[in-house]
This record gives sequence, C-alpha cells and structure tokens, in this order.
Amino acid sequence: MGIRFGGDYNPEQWPKEVWAEDLKLMKAAHVNMVTAGIFSWARVEPRPGAWDFGWFDRVMDGLAGAGIAVCLATMTASPPPWLSRAHPGILPEDADGRRRWPGGRQHYCPSSPVYRTHAVRLVEQLAARYAGHPALAMWHVGNEYGCHTRQCYCEVSADDFRRWLRARYGGIEALNAAWSTAFWSQAYGDFDEVLPPRTAPTFPNPAQQLDYLRFGDEALRACYLAEKAVLERVTPGVPVTTNLMPQHKPVDAFAWAPHMDAMALDFYQDPYVPDDHIRAGYVFDLMRSARDGKPWMLLEQAPGAVNWRPRNGPKPPGAMRLWSWQAVAQGADAVLYFQWRQSLGGAEKFHSAMLPHGGTDTRIFREVAQLGRELAALPDIEGTRSRADVALLADWPSWWALELDSKPSTALDHSRIALDHYRPLFEAGVACDVVPPRRELSGYRLVVVPNLYLLTASDARRLTAYVHAGGQLLVSFFSGIVDEYDRVHPGGYPAPLRELLGLRVEEFWPLDAGRSVAVGRGTYAGRADLWSEAIELEGAEALAHFTDGDLAGRPALTRHTYGQGTAWYLGTRLEATLMRTLLDDVRAAAGVAPVLPGLPTGVQATLREGTGGGYLFLLNHGTRPVEVGLPTPMRDALAAANGADGADGTDGTDGADGADGAEEAVVDRITLGARGVAVLTEA
Ligand code: GAL
Repeated sequence: MGIRFGGDYNPEQWPKEVWAEDLKLMKAAHVNMVTAGIFSWARVEPRPGAWDFGWFDRVMDGLAGAGIAVCLATMTASPPPWLSRAHPGILPEDADGRRRWPGGRQHYCPSSPVYRTHAVRLVEQLAARYAGHPALAMWHVGNEYGCHTRQCYCEVSADDFRRWLRARYGGIEALNAAWSTAFWSQAYGDFDEVLPPRTAPTFPNPAQQLDYLRFGDEALRACYLAEKAVLERVTPGVPVTTNLMPQHKPVDAFAWAPHMDAMALDFYQDPYVPDDHIRAGYVFDLMRSARDGKPWMLLEQAPGAVNWRPRNGPKPPGAMRLWSWQAVAQGADAVLYFQWRQSLGGAEKFHSAMLPHGGTDTRIFREVAQLGRELAALPDIEGTRSRADVALLADWPSWWALELDSKPSTALDHSRIALDHYRPLFEAGVACDVVPPRRELSGYRLVVVPNLYLLTASDARRLTAYVHAGGQLLVSFFSGIVDEYDRVHPGGYPAPLRELLGLRVEEFWPLDAGRSVAVGRGTYAGRADLWSEAIELEGAEALAHFTDGDLAGRPALTRHTYGQGTAWYLGTRLEATLMRTLLDDVRAAAGVAPVLPGLPTGVQATLREGTGGGYLFLLNHGTRPVEVGLPTPMRDALAAANGADGADGTDGTDGADGADGAEEAVVDRITLGARGVAVLTEA
C-alpha cells in the first residue's frame, strides 16, 4: 500500500450528501487511509444499548468502494451525555476533589468500571459489525489517552490504587518501607488507609506521588488493553494502535510499546518556534526506537494552524510538506492529519483541515494534494529501516520522580534537558535512537544520559558493564541519585555510578534563576547555568572547571577511563555552543560519523534502508536555498514524482500526476530550496 496518507474523518459532523464529495476529494488528494469515528459514540449509541450503525455502514462501504483503508476508531474517547447522566460516578476528579464535568471530551475516570464496561460493550458491537469489512485495516483505540484527564483522584480511583498497591507490595510493611513512611508520622497500618496524593497542607509523600503516576499510566493502559482484548478476539490479525502524544508525561510510551502493533504519534509542530523541528526529531526518534526501529505512524498533525495555542500561526508555504517528510525520513510509514474536512461548528472550527473552509481552491488543499501525490509515488519507502550508533536514554519513571516537588531545584525540566543533549546530535547530522535504560546497549558506540535522577541498581550495573566492554558514555548532572522508590542510594552521590564515573558529588549547587557561571579551559570556555555541583575526583580527570562563582576551581566536566571504555560526566548545563563542542568530542572518541559529512547548517539528512535499496532524505529546515554535495551520483526520486523540480521547492503542485513520463534525474549535487526536500535513491 505504501505510505499511509489521510486524516481523521468525522462524517457525523456533516449531512450525508457531503460524504460522496468527501470520497471524490480524498481520491483527488491521494488519500489512502482515514481514521474514522473517533468521536462517534453518541451517534452510534444514542441511548443505552440502542445501536445505530446504519449511517456508519454507509461511511465504511463508501470508503471501501473508493479503495480507502480505515483505521477504525473504537469511539470511546468521549462518552455520550446519557452515560454521565446515568452514572455521574464516571466523571473524573482533580487532586482538590473537584469534579470535571461533561461538555468537553475525555470526561471519564480511567478506573471507572462503569466507563470501562460501557466502552467494552461498544467495542464488542463495533468489532463484530466490521470484522471482515473490506475497509477495515487497523484499529485506533480511544484517543490520546491522558490528554485532558491526566490523572483522576476520585474514590473509585482511590480503591483501584489500593488494589494496585496490594498487588505491588503484598503487605503494608513493604509499602511503608518503600514509601519511607517513618518520616512525618505517615506509617500505614492497612492498605485501606492509603489515599491518592490529593492536595495536602504541604508536600505529599514523594514515593506515594511517584507510585500514583505509575498507577495512573497503568489505569489508562488498562482501558486500552480492555478494548484491545476484544479486538484481538473478534478481529484477530487486524493491527491495533492508539495515538500517543509527544513528551506526554502521563503515558509511558516505552511501557505501552509492547502492546501497540505500530507506534502512533500526534505531533503539532509550532510554526512560531523556529527550531521546533528539533523537538519533533527527538520525539520521532523515540517513536521509532520504542519498537526497535519498526516503522511508526504520524497519526495526527495539522495541515496549517491549530486552534489551541494562545496565538496560532499558520504553517508557511512548504512547512507542512517539509515536516511531513521529516516524519517519513525518521521512520514513519504513515502521514495523517487532524482532520479531513474543517468543521463549521464546535471547538475546533478554526483548526486547519486538509479540506479547509475555503474548499479545494486553497493553498492548504493544494499542498496536501501535492504531498499525497509525492508519497504515493514512492511506495517502496514503506518498511525500510534506519540504524543509529548513538542511543540517548529516556525514562518515564525517572522523569516523574525528577519533577516532583521538594528537590534541590524545581527548575529541572526533563524534556528540556533531553533536548539540550539531543540538539547537538541533531545539528551534527548524527542518527540517534531514543531508548529506555533497560534496552540492550551493546550495539551502540555512544550512549548519552541527559538525566537519570532515578536509576535502579540493575540499570546502573548495565551502564557500567557497557562502558567496561568498550562503550563511550556521557552522563549529565543529577543522575543516579535515587532508587525506584525515590530513596537516595546510600554511599555518596551518585552512588551506583561513582566507580564508573571516577568521582563523587559532595553537594548540589543549583544556580539561581537568571544566574550563570563561567566554565573554562580551551575549547570548553564559556558559560553554564541552571545547575552546578561540588565534584570530588576519584580517578576521573577534569576537562573543564568552574572559573567563577561559589565553585570556582572545582571540576565541571570530567572523563574517566573504565575498562575498555570511557565515562564522561557533566556537572552543569553548558550553553548550546559548548554542548555542541562536548557532543562533537564525545562522538569523535566513539567514532560516530554523521549521516552525510559537510552538511550546510539547517539541513537534516537521514537514511532508510531495505532489501530493495536505500533512501537518502535531505531536508532544508532553513528559509534560504542551499546546495548539498552527494557522496555518489544518485537518483532524485522526488523530482521524478513531481514531474520536474521537486527537490528544491514546494511549487510542483500542478505537475504531472505521478512519476510516469518524468525524467529521473541522476545528480551528484542538489539544490534544496527554502524548506525544500529531496529524496534520493541509488542511481
Ligand atoms: C488532538 C486530538 C484531535 C484534535 C487535535 C487538534 O489532540 O486527538 O482530536 O483535537 O488534537 O489539534
């Protein structure tokens, strides 16, 4: 089928006369997949147990007739009004005990057995009805779990939490030990005394908060799994997924990955953030890595502006195409949007759509159709894979623990620290995987640990073994501090990494807001902010010191040879240029080369390879044309798809439909226009 291309299809918003036109225009835009019915619950079950699927049958049949595959939603993301009226207990509550009312969406407590029962009942109906339907290609369960209701604190959740804790700890004494309840007279005599970490007079117990985040993630996953179980039973072999959100704290993508037949992501690049494509790069790499490099799906993006930021910038000409190709370049086999036809009413009427209010004679529709044609012309990209020599570690439990209150500094932001480390790799054009600490690391030349505040003893042993066997490891500040219950590892910071890093951190010295300090020595001279710490060397060498401030003269950056490998340690946040220097040095030591040497600034290069050959993707994130020399003469596959000069522009919209008849240029250098894209294959 090639790369999936399409979007959310919400036909219930429109009279059925419009549906035929939808199909016609979808074909014109080269749509080959839609995700249908995401918010259709109230229409297919208008009263409890009274099913009305007739209209949806017509939608499915129409799509099948048009040859458009359906990633069919289970319709459970927004319960109908009758359900919350009959069972107000399904409504979620926040940490202050305030109820979240119906009227928006996702107004259900994930632990509610009533919600789950009704959701599963609906899924039974759907699965039975559409099993074997020619349009059914995949299942899309729920929608963006934890987007609005991240955690619920109601009594039903409290009961479910206690059940979860009993299973986790067995006895109350184990919980007391894990939660350090000897502190502040918190010792529990029985599980029945335990509550969710609701708003308390002061900091709720950190281990209790951490477990509640774990529990919250599992409660959401339990909803997903309950529906998935039905789908697997009734429609075996039909892949099941759900759309995750980027850097979404309530949902541990690595824990969900084994339960998803394809990773799927919604990503809305912000046109007003000049380097948001780097954040995209990080999340795309994480999606690909979560299932060991298997292709993933960009299940939602905006064709133009969104409606939910304070100011919603449209995507300038070419940006949507560029960012869509970026997803493919980083391993996506699907590019879909929210949504097909722009709504006339409701909360998202000013959110862009593939088919805007202005119809087909619009820039957005033309750009969408051009992209559809380009993707359709290169079907063999599907299934190709990429490989990386660098792994960047990310871990949800550590993220959760890091950002709890009552720390040396509450200014440590997991996502920001991760990007500080990812950016220099991205800018250097290095292929990178983003993996959890439990992943097998021996295949990587370099492992980067931006921050792992929470590090289990066994993961620390694995990192140590990795370096001992010859790996290069870079670890940054405030890592290896606590165990999985947020208890400090005894033996001096960072106890489980001390021997490996050849140092000890005696005191944390977070820097005040707006304050920076000088760090020095040769190429590492510059400034640092956010964090510093008093490092005592125990075998490591200092590569740079703090040269002013309270820690003047103490190490800021160190390196330690350990076994066959090397462990680098950074005790502060370096300014971006120094981070680039550091990552370049660490990379050089590890022998990690960029995908393409000598790339102009702002150009991203990635490779995908398969049995039928490879693809080199070149993406100009800048707004000036640039020329890129190729290592060998290559075929400009996009130019061929656009019938002309596809590589350097966004203006091939009206070109010939498909590659037929187009001359396939073999080139040894290529000019990328502003936001230009090139896809090259072996000549
Ligand atoms: C997503 C959601 C869609 C739509 C979209 C708008 O969060 O899944 O239903 O609301 O955002 O950007």
